[in-house]
Amino acid sequence: MGGLGEPLYAYRRIGSTNDRLAELAREGSPHGTLVVADEQTAGRGRMGRRWQTRPGGGLAVSLLLRSVPDERRALGALQLLGALAVVKALEALGAPAEIKWPNDVILPRGKAAGVLVEGSWVGDELEYLILGIGVNIRAKSLPPPGEVDYPAACAEEAIGRRVDREALLLEMMANLAEDLAAVGTDRFLQDCERRLAFLDRPVAVSAPELRLTGRIQGLAEDGRLRLLRPTGEVILIGGGGVQLRPVDRGD
Ligand code: BTN
Repeated sequence: MGGLGEPLYAYRRIGSTNDRLAELAREGSPHGTLVVADEQTAGRGRMGRRWQTRPGGGLAVSLLLRSVPDERRALGALQLLGALAVVKALEALGAPAEIKWPNDVILPRGKAAGVLVEGSWVGDELEYLILGIGVNIRAKSLPPPGEVDYPAACAEEAIGRRVDREALLLEMMANLAEDLAAVGTDRFLQDCERRLAFLDRPVAVSAPELRLTGRIQGLAEDGRLRLLRPTGEVILIGGGGVQLRPVDRGD
């Protein structure tokens, strides 16, 4: 696994794998440390949302990275790296998974995985980054419909047979190891772009105090989204609290 995944801390039940890994990082745990849990009682998603991980239902993993290509732009690129690793692992099982920019994996029926990247810097210097990934595998991993603002889906429903969680984790880790070094390269970008959901389709992009519509053209070098506005202008969208939705038609 290219040095990723060691040491491995596996928990039956934990608050949040990202939080546990942050503790280990502060204690000096090395690049590649992996925390996995069967159940999370305080799993977190982006923008303060909850992320449920029920026992026996999915995967909750957090990977510690102490050096990454192009640290300043790492947060966005690592979200894509995590999503790409899951998409490729699901593709290998025959599922038509796609990256829903900036940090989700979707299947035809809805969101199957989410990525949460958190980091710590001292001044300009990166201390560590935590790449947290949650995957819905079995039907029991699905949150109640009222609790999510985007429909949820699980891998087994899309694949039509039992998925071996451990094998899926190993495949994801192999993908992460292979693609980490490629972050920021044309190959990485093309790998992501090819799997981008809603390409050339009308979408709405929102962030606090912002709502824009347009058609997705692809990705910029740094992982930002290239959006063709109804005015014909192509703009780049990136940053923290951005959300994306398909819409029936552009404005
Ligand atoms: C999102 O969709 O907003 C991101 C969800 C990320 C969930 C994963 S599960 C493993 C890791 N630990 C957490 O507390 N969150 C991430």
